[in-house]
Amino acid sequence: MTEPILTLTGVSKTYKGGFTALHGVDLSINKGEIFALLGPNGAGKTTLISIVCGIVTPSTGTIRVGGHDAVRDYKAARTLIGLVPQELSVDMFETVLATVTFSRRLFGRSGHSEYIEQVLRDLSLWDKRNNKIMELSGGMKRRVLIAKALAHEPEILFLDEPTAGVDVALRRDMWKLVHSLRERGTTIILTTHYIEEAEEMADRVGVINKGRLLLVDEKAALMQKLGKRELDLTLVDALDMVPAGFEQWQLSLVNDGHTLRYVFDATEEDTGIPSLLRALGERHIAFKDLETSKSSLEDIFVDLVEERA
Ligand SMILES: Nc1ncnc2c1ncn2[C@@H]1O[C@H](COP(=O)(O)OP(=O)(O)OP(=O)(O)O)[C@@H](O)[C@H]1O
Ligand SMILES: [Mg+2]
Repeated sequence: MTEPILTLTGVSKTYKGGFTALHGVDLSINKGEIFALLGPNGAGKTTLISIVCGIVTPSTGTIRVGGHDAVRDYKAARTLIGLVPQELSVDMFETVLATVTFSRRLFGRSGHSEYIEQVLRDLSLWDKRNNKIMELSGGMKRRVLIAKALAHEPEILFLDEPTAGVDVALRRDMWKLVHSLRERGTTIILTTHYIEEAEEMADRVGVINKGRLLLVDEKAALMQKLGKRELDLTLVDALDMVPAGFEQWQLSLVNDGHTLRYVFDATEEDTGIPSLLRALGERHIAFKDLETSKSSLEDIFVDLVEERA
């Protein structure tokens, strides 16, 4: 068993003005894992991260980071954490190297470092090290934020929407970087709206909506447990509507009536497929091809958020 490096117990946040953004969140993060916090706008993701990083004070609950209480023992806890914020927050007139070096010194580490060079090289920023931040592209600015967060060699890295507004190639680079950081033992917690990103990167996924953590599970287990499947039948003759008499199966028409889609639960003993195919045969509804697919984490996520909204 891996030990948790971060534990939240009963963490709530009610902002001034009375809005409750988090309701009693319990969460344990293991050392070395990649955890994705998935949720729609306003779900409370940034609030949760800001509390752990000591930017926002919790209304109730406790947070322990590497054995330190994040409120009482703020400095010790904060030293273990690197934060890549959602919003750009850098001095535009500073150079890349100065910005990153400054962040490292803030945590009492020596300024000159091969480590910083390595970080900047990993993020393809070394060539731009003497450029002012304002001279960089948006994607490069995001990478500077990551370099800043990594500057003091934190054990836990928070990435709040790391790839928002980033192109596909850079997103892939980001994923690679995250994986290589994990290989060095860094624990990574990222927030995202992109299910694809959670699916690609995370070991575990937490789904948050309206300030409540709805579930936390291994990504693979989550997808299997909740995974619906689709059976697509390509029809010989397109249909206008799902024929009467098929109510016992969850059917829909897609692709202009050329494809009959059956959504079923793959974990059920009886998937309903044999009986459906028999029934179609009896009604002389012919198909020329059939294909099944797993539903993505996206479908699962939308289901969950809608169900519990
Ligand atoms: N300083 C604040 N004062 C009052 N309400 C706030 C404050 N910060 C956030 N909120 C509210 O708390 C809720 C959660 O906001 P939060 O930024 O944590 O969401 P999020 O999940 O990060 O959303 P997004 O995906 O859009 O970044 C929102 O309804 C927001 O309006
Ligand atoms: Mg946010």
